[in-house]
Amino acid sequence: MRSRPEFFAAREELLGPTALVPTMGALHAGHVALIDAAVRTNESTVVSIFVNPLQFGPSEDFARYPRTLDADLEACRAGGANLVWAPQVEDVYPGGPMRTIVDPGPLGVELEGASRPGHFAGVLTVVAKLFGVVRPATAYFGEKDYQQLVLIRQMATDLDLHVGVVGVPTVREPDGLALSSRNAYLSPTERTQATALSRALMAGQRAAVFGPEAVRTAAAVLLAAEPEVHLDYLELRGEDLGPLPRDGAARLLVAARIGTTRLIDNVPVVFGAKP
Ligand code: PAF
Repeated sequence: MRSRPEFFAAREELLGPTALVPTMGALHAGHVALIDAAVRTNESTVVSIFVNPLQFGPSEDFARYPRTLDADLEACRAGGANLVWAPQVEDVYPGGPMRTIVDPGPLGVELEGASRPGHFAGVLTVVAKLFGVVRPATAYFGEKDYQQLVLIRQMATDLDLHVGVVGVPTVREPDGLALSSRNAYLSPTERTQATALSRALMAGQRAAVFGPEAVRTAAAVLLAAEPEVHLDYLELRGEDLGPLPRDGAARLLVAARIGTTRLIDNVPVVFGAKP
């Protein structure tokens, strides 16, 4: 269903604690894992499908972002979702351009935010609106967009939204490539080159037993060996994306361009642990 009144009426019928899985559609096995996690632990599950113009820069891929509504609806049904909201832009932003925008704070201009100005303000604003419309007890997001997950957690805490934010591990192709709707843009050659990202991250993970410098070097060496992968950043940070802790858990993150496609990926890193 699309319109707000239709959605509100159907939402009233849902039983018990309700989960929300916000998506931009073009659903793949990564989204199915989110729906599955939500359905397994909640009475009712709502999936939203909305390509949010507010989070795309003027030169980004809003217009060509894959839109596969019929297949998406079928994936939601097969996954056991109780309700799908696939609004139009005017259903989400009925008042036209937003006057109130959620500021993601300092982390919003680092990593992805450095290359995509305004992106996280657009993400947080639409997620806050989806929380307001759907009123979920819990919401599910993929760890693939790790910075997004951290910022949504930050927003839920800072604004006392009373929504539990659950991160679901990244789903990968057998060769390690993280599932992403943007993988559809890759040519067969680029698709092969793109595995350098996950290969680098996993090499970094394996080097964790030797400390942070070894992690960075192992990943960087692998990326440098693939000249068609144009690195934006390779960073090792704390789990909350703050400074690297002296020991314990960290996150290794990468962003790179292959042809005209920008891909991101990340893995957990535990220092001192044998891979
Ligand atoms: O991760 C996404 O698909 C989007 O950023 C989200 C969270 C649905 C907000 O538009």
